[in-house]
Amino acid sequence: MTALREQYLAAMGIPVWQLRSRSDDDHPVSPIDDLDWQALRERVSGCRLCGLHGGRTQTVFGVGDPDADLLIVGEAPGAEEDRRGEPFVGRAGQLLDAMLDAIDLTRGQVYIANILKCRPPNNRDPQREESGACTPYLERQIALLQPKVILALGRIAAQWLLQSDSPIGRLRGRELSFGKPAVPLIASYHPAYLLRSPAAKAKSWEDLRLVRQILRAAS
Ligand code: URA
Repeated sequence: MTALREQYLAAMGIPVWQLRSRSDDDHPVSPIDDLDWQALRERVSGCRLCGLHGGRTQTVFGVGDPDADLLIVGEAPGAEEDRRGEPFVGRAGQLLDAMLDAIDLTRGQVYIANILKCRPPNNRDPQREESGACTPYLERQIALLQPKVILALGRIAAQWLLQSDSPIGRLRGRELSFGKPAVPLIASYHPAYLLRSPAAKAKSWEDLRLVRQILRAAS
């Protein structure tokens, strides 16, 4: 199967598990839903479902506590994340660490992932087919993690997870939900936006307090 054909199948929404192994047709590829953390990480690291694999240094799978109650979802790796293989390690990541500190959490106590596991060129927005191809990985991460709350950072992550085209200013500030079984979801501003627009930090703080409330109620 060519990479191009895989890409078309992914874009048409045909799940990877229907594809058969490239090397041996007698050994079907395991469904993503069967993969544990390690197998999922390996599947992601070899992924060629969309064109972004051609430009990556490495995939950026996610980081943190695999038993975390809080899952933070960003957009996609940037240049620094692509180099280091870890999400949110640039300037936006430093602000994210400070935001977590404000609700008495550290990076090691939460789980951090992105909609896309590969860096888009020039940090452009993810394309629909890229997000569509990558989402099963995030969905499996969510199924393994079973978080008590998801914090979606920025328009791209919030709109994709909520399948909404409302602006982030309308999505933030209240409890929404993701998936079935429903996981509470709070949408908020991306730390990169907060770096450019510090006045929005007050609203971001309101959103973080909502996250903290949900975590407290769940524990
Ligand atoms: N921005 C994101 O959305 N994710 C990262 O990992 C880094 C920057």
